[in-house]
Amino acid sequence: MRNTLLTIFISVTILFGVLVYFIPQTGTIILLSIAGFLTIIAIYDSLQTKHSLLRAFPVIARLRWFFEDERDKIQQYFIEDNLNGTPINREKRSIVYQRSKLSKDTIPFGTQHNVYAKGYEFVKHSLFPKDHHHIAGDRVLFGSDKCTQKYDASIINISAMSFGSLSKNAIMALNQGAKMGNFAHNTGEGGISPYHLQGGDVIFQVGTGYFGAGKSVNGKRVFDDETFRENAIRPEIKMIEIKFSQGAKPGHGGILPAKKNTPEIAKIRSVAPGTQVDSPPSHSAFTNYEEMISFIQNVRDLSEGKPVGIKFCAGNNEEIETMIKAFAEANNYPDFISVDGGEGGTGAAPMEFTNYIGTPLTEGLVFVNKLLIKYNLKNQIKIIASGKAVDAFDIVKTLSLGADAIGMARSFMLSLGCIQARECNLDTCPVGVATQDESLVKALVVEKKNIRVKNYHDQTIKAVKEVVAAMGVASIADLKASHVFRRRKDEEIVSFEDIYYK
Ligand SMILES: Cc1cc2nc3c(=O)[nH]c(=O)nc-3n(C[C@H](O)[C@H](O)[C@H](O)COP(=O)(O)O)c2cc1C
Ligand code: SF4
Repeated sequence: MRNTLLTIFISVTILFGVLVYFIPQTGTIILLSIAGFLTIIAIYDSLQTKHSLLRAFPVIARLRWFFEDERDKIQQYFIEDNLNGTPINREKRSIVYQRSKLSKDTIPFGTQHNVYAKGYEFVKHSLFPKDHHHIAGDRVLFGSDKCTQKYDASIINISAMSFGSLSKNAIMALNQGAKMGNFAHNTGEGGISPYHLQGGDVIFQVGTGYFGAGKSVNGKRVFDDETFRENAIRPEIKMIEIKFSQGAKPGHGGILPAKKNTPEIAKIRSVAPGTQVDSPPSHSAFTNYEEMISFIQNVRDLSEGKPVGIKFCAGNNEEIETMIKAFAEANNYPDFISVDGGEGGTGAAPMEFTNYIGTPLTEGLVFVNKLLIKYNLKNQIKIIASGKAVDAFDIVKTLSLGADAIGMARSFMLSLGCIQARECNLDTCPVGVATQDESLVKALVVEKKNIRVKNYHDQTIKAVKEVVAAMGVASIADLKASHVFRRRKDEEIVSFEDIYYK
């Protein structure tokens, strides 16, 4: 094949060469240049030794790489239908775009879901639906009896995403949107930047790299009381979240690709610019449950009594039960637990960690909720759940299983204009959301996107109220596992209460 292709390219070039000799016009000269150019590439391809496919199929094999690179986009634009796109299908992406832009968010002609398929989930409506304008429960008060600065939060908040993983314009638009809509914006583990301080309520995340909360000692990042305190007592900071793990890469620690580690980000994190920044998998500030409890209390004291939470994706069941039992025995506990599902998102993660490690949200959430009930801590510790919550049904379902509030990351990225190109780890995000390339960052106009963030939040809350009203329930806070149903077998429909709580 190699020789045949080379012969074809060389012959065509000679042919055009002859043509130019007899008809020296612009058209023939252009054809000769193209053929000559392709022949040079064909010769180069057939001589190089790095890619066997290219040696065997000079020039032609390059098409394969092009299609390989553009596969996701081709799939999304030409092949994917409404319900089969991953991780977030087109139907769900569309509802975010529509709610963010306040455009029409109704769909015509009936459902495309197979309501007779196993796994189909739904809620039942009441003969006496309520007026959605009067549905209560869209705010939740965070803060146990250990906390002196309780926080009145929305039930929907922006889940952790760092400046570094996201662009400064994305962070600014998220924070300004949070301010307009009166909800909270989580910093992610990358520390606090000026872009987080646009006036919106902030949840300050402390990860294992202690960015914004620590210092380097002999090349190792350690928690530092003074650095943490300086940031934690800012008035914008409403709660602190200590990150143990996240669903997309539990047990791994954060990854900031070298390309995205600009001098500005490196300065905020106190690391060398242009290098990949890997946070350690575990905290150096504590090594057992007692030390963990002391650390949580220290963080609470340093932040002058703000609610302090821990975030993890449920892993080893025994460890989690021991931890919660230790909270109960010590009569000291975090004010909230953020349970992230194994299906959670990330800017960059190793494939095995994303696909095969960590408990999915439903099981993780139910497990943690049952433990809080068992150890009598449900009235002290709130649960924030995160994992592909996009529309109102996702939220109703998750709240009914025991969550008090929802954290959303990718949905808010979509509200900023993310097209699910899945290049967040490459610094080439075409819409300026997950890149540090200035020319791309400019594509995201903060003054236009901030309002979309607010709209998406507000419209989703409204949609939750409409669903709850249709169910005949007076308050979002009254949602229970008995309200949601799943088709388990062909002729068997079971409530979440029966599946998860009996
Ligand atoms: C771009 C990106 C960056 C993230 N960065 C962090 C982070 O710094 N800390 C963290 O705890 N989780 C991080 N996450 C996980 C989210 O906070 C969230 O837990 C997870 O994506 C599930 O929510 P979702 O399904 O609504 O996206 C990140 C997620 C994304 C998509
Ligand atoms: S559009 Fe940007 S933010 Fe969205 S998935 Fe692609 S690279 Fe990531």
